[in-house]
Amino acid sequence: MQPQRITVVGAGNMGAALIGGILKGGVASREHLTATVKSEESARALAEKYGIAVTAGGNSEAAAAADLIIAAVKPGTLPKVLAEIRDSLHEGQILISVAAAVPIAVIERVIARRLAVFRAMPNIPVVVEEGATAIAGNGLCNDAQREIVANVFRAVGVAVFVDEDLMHAVTALSGSGPAYVYMVIEAMIAGGLKMGLSREISTKLAEQTVLGAAKLVRETTLHPAVLRDQVITPGGVTISAIHELERHGLRSMLISAIETATRHSEDRTRALIASLEQR
Ligand SMILES: NC(=O)c1ccc[n+]([C@@H]2O[C@H](COP(=O)([O-])OP(=O)(O)OC[C@H]3O[C@@H](n4cnc5c(N)ncnc54)[C@H](OP(=O)(O)O)[C@@H]3O)[C@@H](O)[C@H]2O)c1
Repeated sequence: MQPQRITVVGAGNMGAALIGGILKGGVASREHLTATVKSEESARALAEKYGIAVTAGGNSEAAAAADLIIAAVKPGTLPKVLAEIRDSLHEGQILISVAAAVPIAVIERVIARRLAVFRAMPNIPVVVEEGATAIAGNGLCNDAQREIVANVFRAVGVAVFVDEDLMHAVTALSGSGPAYVYMVIEAMIAGGLKMGLSREISTKLAEQTVLGAAKLVRETTLHPAVLRDQVITPGGVTISAIHELERHGLRSMLISAIETATRHSEDRTRALIASLEQR
């Protein structure tokens, strides 16, 4: 089941990546996909890049004409944009927000409409169609709508459904996760450089090692610890490096980082709700 017409309200980095995936994955055709941005300059650039109709502003008109609306503005701008499109929304449409930290309850309160509302947390590799997106829906979403929404995000990677209260953990794990992996890649490159490899060769080997290791986890479905043990030979090179990583607490460090980031995400949502209530 495909939505007939999709609009991306606020097509910046994330919105544009979704547009690219939607077109490439055949989720909607160019004629049935529109977008809005703030400036004329962005509208021109986006229209030229994707060959779709893009307007600077015109959010209500775009929302009224769509079956599926993806709100991809910044979290601080979302309430204003939702208030703007509220009167264009009607039952049967699907509204997806990708704004970090903004709970579904806040969206529902602003739109004041009985509508299927989804909140999605994609990550930046959506720009290369290797994103990881977690999705939560409100009580009005049916299975067909869940499938439609999953299809949108499958066009740019992997999509899973979670209970909304786990979105903070998702933000900490996969939302921020690329940054952790970049640090690992960066450090591996530095290690190669220290041991005399060229920057070019270190980079190529480090990036492919991370890519290949992740692919092996997915394709074998083996626990990473099993795959790690398969690389270890008694008294060998790998176990000497693993001993060093364990001594410095690599796993414990990452677990703590995700725990801290989850708490930070919870605090951010509380602060956002408090600021909205003061308005
Ligand atoms: N980037 C990520 O890795 C990531 C990951 C997960 C979730 N998200 C979420 O995705 C959302 C967008 O992030 P982003 O990085 O894509 O931000 P961004 O590049 O700044 O995009 C925001 C877009 O919103 C447009 N805009 C601003 N005000 C508008 C208005 N009143 N009406 C219509 N369009 C308007 C801007 O237009 P102009 O171009 O004309 O300024 C811009 O194109 C955020 O809520 C963020 O939490 C992002």
